[in-house]
Amino acid sequence: MRILGIETSCDETSAAVVEETGDAAKPWAIRSNVIASQVNIHREWGGVVPELASRQHIRDICWVVEQALAESSTTWTDLGAIAVTQGPGLVGSLLVGVAFAKASAAAAHVPLVAVHHLAGHIESLVLQNGEMPLPAVVLVVSGGHTSLYLVSEPVHYELLSRTRDDAAGEAYDKVAKLLGLGYPGGPVIDRLAKTGNDRAVPLPTTRLTHADRNAPELKGDLDFSFSGLKTAVLRYVRSRSAPLTDAEIADMCASFQRIVVTALLDRLFDAARRYQAKSVGIAGGVSANSRLRGEFEERGQRREMPTFLPSLRLSTDNAAMIAAAGLRRFRQGSAAPADLNADAALAL
Ligand code: KG4
Ligand code: ZN
Repeated sequence: MRILGIETSCDETSAAVVEETGDAAKPWAIRSNVIASQVNIHREWGGVVPELASRQHIRDICWVVEQALAESSTTWTDLGAIAVTQGPGLVGSLLVGVAFAKASAAAAHVPLVAVHHLAGHIESLVLQNGEMPLPAVVLVVSGGHTSLYLVSEPVHYELLSRTRDDAAGEAYDKVAKLLGLGYPGGPVIDRLAKTGNDRAVPLPTTRLTHADRNAPELKGDLDFSFSGLKTAVLRYVRSRSAPLTDAEIADMCASFQRIVVTALLDRLFDAARRYQAKSVGIAGGVSANSRLRGEFEERGQRREMPTFLPSLRLSTDNAAMIAAAGLRRFRQGSAAPADLNADAALAL
């Protein structure tokens, strides 16, 4: 069976066709994965402007879907279902994908499947590498999220912890902005950090020990916090009488990145030990980070724990992961009603 996936939760308009393989170990194959990025539009503003994003999705959605079908030699009648990101994300952006998916599912007489964006990121690991040994602990780390999930059985994603303030990708973007490096911050900090000294600037690490008042059901000691780190970078830059030299900027990038990567991996492997995970994974835009990928694989090898990462193309927002998560839900018997609505704060 072939499924069409549609993703418009933030600033990428994407459509993909994914097919079931019949192989239980590697259940899905990507037939096409078209991504129209709006990054050049938002760069001018230093971040995503929601109103511009939704308007651009409207301009792009038709050709992106048509291209995804054409590249995979798929017609509407070949589709067994249409999957769409219902949330979380920017509501104006989500609505474009949801409205398009509802209309096309009705016109093509195929079932509609609603997908949680983070379930898509988690399933990107399986789409890329095949099934993960369960239970698995997965870190979803992007511009909007930094959360740990326990996957004890397929389609069962249990939230273990999350950030109390900024997401890790958001911290990258904010620090890049205050260092004058432009948007998005992740890739440029990643690149500059390679030439810097990661011990040059003393920056704080945050270790939370108490439950969050807003989420008393979680123990809280696996939670993340990045706003103090961002503020420390800001104070350091402001305390200097002259602008930072290129070498000092590289040192700052390397020092910042060391703290972020260590915080992410420490919690991930703590959780893996606590929940006796048989595998670990990292998904979401920040999983493209070279230091995070390298240290993750090293730590996994040391502990003889299988590690799962998406390819660079599957790490940032894309519809192939939504199609994969949609197939998973569809096979569990979940179809969305014709009056499906976008939900900017959808819970997983
Ligand atoms: O998953 P994604 O495409 O969109 C969201 O759902 O947020 O993630 C985008 C985030 C941005 O904050 C970007 O700076 C970050 O991922 N990112 C990176 C790297 N590439 C993208 N962060 C660190 N290192 C990278 N190489
Ligand atoms: Zn995302």
